[in-house]
Amino acid sequence: MKGNSAPRGLAEPVIRPVQSLDELSELFDLVGAQLPTRLTRVDHRLAELAQHFPDDQPLMLVATIEGKPVGGALAFRRNAEGATLRVVGVSEEHRSQGIGHRLLKAVEDAAAVLGVRTMSLGADEARGFYGPLGYSQIGGEWQKALRRRAPRQH
Ligand SMILES: CC(C)(COP(=O)(O)OP(=O)(O)OC[C@H]1O[C@@H](n2cnc3c(N)ncnc32)[C@H](O)[C@@H]1OP(=O)(O)O)[C@@H](O)C(=O)NCCC(=O)NCCS
Repeated sequence: MKGNSAPRGLAEPVIRPVQSLDELSELFDLVGAQLPTRLTRVDHRLAELAQHFPDDQPLMLVATIEGKPVGGALAFRRNAEGATLRVVGVSEEHRSQGIGHRLLKAVEDAAAVLGVRTMSLGADEARGFYGPLGYSQIGGEWQKALRRRAPRQH
């Protein structure tokens, strides 16, 4: 099946939360550089994400390959039941390997563990990416209802 694993010979990506505000800023630059209208760390959207760090750190995910960041998905809780997925991006040379789908699944899973019921995003650029993943357009936003998940046992 497409998109579930790296092509043969390529290292598997690791997806994990960013570990610091500095790493969040660096990742925002990397993800922002993928967007049709480039965003950099001076954008107000980074300030908004940073305000939610570290509370929403589990929703700020970096994908790395052999330790090098290749993409990210950055979200935060806007209230007790809703989260906003602010940006998702994968560097061009690593696209079409399933990393974008994995990032989205990982951020949805992490949000569900935090009790989030709905993930929202404003996605004009990549609408074809989100539709098959269960998002539908409601007003000006794309939304997906998340399944409840139990917190991970340690
Ligand atoms: C969208 C994005 C994150 C997908 O990452 P990815 O790692 O390539 O995603 P996957 O490999 O899991 O899935 C790829 C599939 O998603 C779909 N897809 C990806 N981008 C799409 C787009 N802009 N429009 C429609 N469908 C898209 C396609 O079916 C694609 O399959 P293909 O590669 O065979 O054409 C990546 O293309 C990207 O960074 N784009 C620029 C930034 C952007 O538009 N971000 C979203 C708005 S915040």
